[in-house]
Amino acid sequence: MTSVLFSPLNIGPIRVPNRIAIAPMCQYSANDGCATDWHLQLAMNYGMSGAGTVILEATGVTREGRISHGCLGLYSDACEYALARVLHAARAVALPGTKFGIQIGHAGRKASTHVNWMGSGPLGAHESPWRTVAPSPLPYGDNWHVPAEMDDREISATIGAFAQATRRAVRLGFDIIEVHAAHGYLIHEFHSPISNKRTDQWGGDAEKRLRFPLAVADAVRAETPSHIALGARITGTDYVEGGLTVEDAVRFASEFRKRDYGYVCVSSGNIYLGGRPASGPGFNVPNAARVRKEAGIVTRTAGLIAEPLQAEDIVATRGVDQIAIARAQIDDPRWGWRAAEKLGVKLELPPQARRVSVGQWPGAKLVRPQA
Ligand SMILES: Cc1cc2nc3c(=O)[nH]c(=O)nc-3n(C[C@H](O)[C@H](O)[C@H](O)COP(=O)(O)O)c2cc1C
Repeated sequence: MTSVLFSPLNIGPIRVPNRIAIAPMCQYSANDGCATDWHLQLAMNYGMSGAGTVILEATGVTREGRISHGCLGLYSDACEYALARVLHAARAVALPGTKFGIQIGHAGRKASTHVNWMGSGPLGAHESPWRTVAPSPLPYGDNWHVPAEMDDREISATIGAFAQATRRAVRLGFDIIEVHAAHGYLIHEFHSPISNKRTDQWGGDAEKRLRFPLAVADAVRAETPSHIALGARITGTDYVEGGLTVEDAVRFASEFRKRDYGYVCVSSGNIYLGGRPASGPGFNVPNAARVRKEAGIVTRTAGLIAEPLQAEDIVATRGVDQIAIARAQIDDPRWGWRAAEKLGVKLELPPQARRVSVGQWPGAKLVRPQA
């Protein structure tokens, strides 16, 4: 069988060996923004997973822009050194052609929260909370921190922090830099009319609400050499009356294309507490396909994509270029190997692993537990 899932894809200046990406996933395991041994093993496993694209978790461009005390950052030399170790080790074991990216972002009004296994709610008074900021002083949900409305000085400092973090990501040698503009974090907060009630140049109609997101896009672009692919994670819908729709996503994606970004990843939801993504296999696929068709940019999507045949169908017939897996990757760190096996594709594995891979050693089936 010829597999589209396992065919290469050009994303801006780079070529990835297949259409499987590992979606960014916060690990809540950093130490003052610095990657730890947890990230080391994780990135090495990601590199060996068979996914052609690996995007490391949401990484704060400032200390205050982290979601929790445990989130990664790229705001200090220490953060940069710690990530260098992780990336170096991951590249050393990665399957041929694997490309590594990092997602940079600012948590806005969703900053200063507990790590997710403690519930992800806002930090209490004795848990070293910090001041949160947003386009408007509206909390994410009941009993959440009320963010300070950002003034012009804070807005331009934050755009500068995106530029500075980009310089660090470039220095680190990532192949891809992804701007996090979804999931109710700062860039999405400026974009969405649900969270942006400003009446100055940074809010109001769609054009003004896009000013901050596009200023960030420009700042990141300006710091990125042409051999690195740029991308953005955007929202396909806010799932709420008066919120962002797929038409907004098409417009946003077109702006990224004009700025020579290589791709967008269409996700959805989380602009307010309770504004959860819909469930159902591949629930973001229709919006992603629409964005790809109308904005003409390489498009990835994620959201309940867990089965190899489902993934193959999405890239082969549903009008999306690349899929990302998150929870399925946690569940099976060699998801890409299993997918290759299922689709009859021979992955190029490290020699140390070949004897347990079905198709590469006849006895392998006998040592594998049958699902
Ligand atoms: C533990 C965990 C952490 C996540 N962290 C991030 C993140 O850092 N950035 C992001 O854009 N999405 C994040 N997400 C969302 C995933 O990237 C993905 O879009 C979502 O889980 C849906 O995909 P899935 O059904 O394959 O899990 C996270 C999801 C999980 C489960």
